[in-house]
Amino acid sequence: MFSGLAKADFLFSTKLLYNIKMKKVDVLLGLQWGDEGKGKIVDVLTPYYDVVTRFQGGPNAGHTLEFEGKKFILRSIPSGIFQGDKINVIGNGVVLDPLLFKEEALSLAQAGHDVINKLYISKKAHLILPTHRILDAANESAKGSSKLGTTGKGIGPAYTDKISRNGLRVGDLLFDFDAKYTTARSRHENMLRALNYQFDITELEKEWFNALDYLLKFKLVDSEHFVNELLLNDKSILAEGAQGAMLDVDFGSYPFVTSSNTVCAGCCSGLGVAPRHIGEVIGIFKAYCTRVGSGPFPTELKDDTGEKMCARGREYGSVTGRKRRCGWIDLVALRYTVMLNGVTQLIMMKSDVLDTFDVIKACVAYTVNGKEVTKFPFEVAEATIEPVYVEIDGWKSDMTKMKSENEFPEEFNFYLSFLEQELGIPIAIVSVGPDREQTIHRNSG
Ligand code: GDP
Ligand code: IMO
Ligand code: MG
Repeated sequence: MFSGLAKADFLFSTKLLYNIKMKKVDVLLGLQWGDEGKGKIVDVLTPYYDVVTRFQGGPNAGHTLEFEGKKFILRSIPSGIFQGDKINVIGNGVVLDPLLFKEEALSLAQAGHDVINKLYISKKAHLILPTHRILDAANESAKGSSKLGTTGKGIGPAYTDKISRNGLRVGDLLFDFDAKYTTARSRHENMLRALNYQFDITELEKEWFNALDYLLKFKLVDSEHFVNELLLNDKSILAEGAQGAMLDVDFGSYPFVTSSNTVCAGCCSGLGVAPRHIGEVIGIFKAYCTRVGSGPFPTELKDDTGEKMCARGREYGSVTGRKRRCGWIDLVALRYTVMLNGVTQLIMMKSDVLDTFDVIKACVAYTVNGKEVTKFPFEVAEATIEPVYVEIDGWKSDMTKMKSENEFPEEFNFYLSFLEQELGIPIAIVSVGPDREQTIHRNSG
């Protein structure tokens, strides 16, 4: 019956089916509208893992890491890249722009972090072509005043081509690429002509092609096999989400979302890991809330309090420099994203930003067209939504130098317990500043 199978294959498939000891992938996800501080925390958690992976998104991400007086912003490279020789993997669910990738990898190399030997890239990751960037701009311009405020990196058009089965993948670089590229480009040119959009990609295209040679120096792998074999070999993996669950293409504030599944399920399809091999789901959120780009944001503060959050939190896009909209924490949205992701542990970021506030507000429900709701509603982009707040005393202390939860002010502990009760999940880590060291692990969480 098994005559066609080599012994090694047979052993492998038996292990896959029956090895209940196979390690699980822990997933770290943003629970709000992105920029929660994922990069910082992935870097902090990397020593506990053998491998760090990305599974969706692309250079629309900007993940900031600060340590030893230095600051790095990662876009496509996983945030586990700075901790020793840990393996980092860019999974199939990512969309990769070779040119931006080259810039990013070379800037790390210049800072003494040569990534070529420890970064593996999926052959199934889709390529962002120069014309995808132009299409992103053209689509935005066609929308006029209802534009999404995308990052302009070609994310939507690249994922659109993937789903419509017109995309080009990293592995295509190895097989007759020029012909495939020419077909894709002329398709895009027709679309741009239909949109009456003027463009010239001569320079961009030249640089993009130069960047392909650099990309080919990296280890291009069948990442689904690679990742599952790592798990079989008892290696622990942390999967780093990009964007946030409220930007998920299915569940976010559609159409003001990104074009990938940012929720936990995206890790299965974006890495080739079966649902039963997902372990801890670590959900990360700010002590307040931000959003960059257009779209509904029920707790947004367009007043001095919002300005104060923006100034204290330095809320400007790490890559685009765009000012982030700021507001109070939204527990309707957070309960929703905790549910969608099956979160098992929470991490609260940027508590220090609220250090000087007399009163902290938390939105526990919405009034939608006069009716109070506690479940995140479909009509979020259509109806008038009024947040229902509870008020909590501020802690009015500088938390940035604290090293242990024993130093937490009473009011801050109250805020933590309140959030844990509302969300039903323990807060395991609290971040009190941008540096790697400004991270407090809780025993009580
Ligand atoms: P990511 O996209 O989720 O990785 O988050 P970003 O890097 O885009 O944005 C988070 C910003 O907050 C970065 O500038 C971080 O350096 C900074 N940051 C992270 N944690 C903290 C914190 O606890 N306190 C303060 N004040 N800043 C933080
Ligand atoms: P990280 O990983 C915050 C937002 C854009 C826009 C919408 C669609 O750093 O948290 P896109 O370019 O993806 O088509 O834009 O999504 N957006 C982000 N906002 N953080 C991000 O990533 C984002 N990536 C995309 O501002 O509103
Ligand atoms: Mg960011």
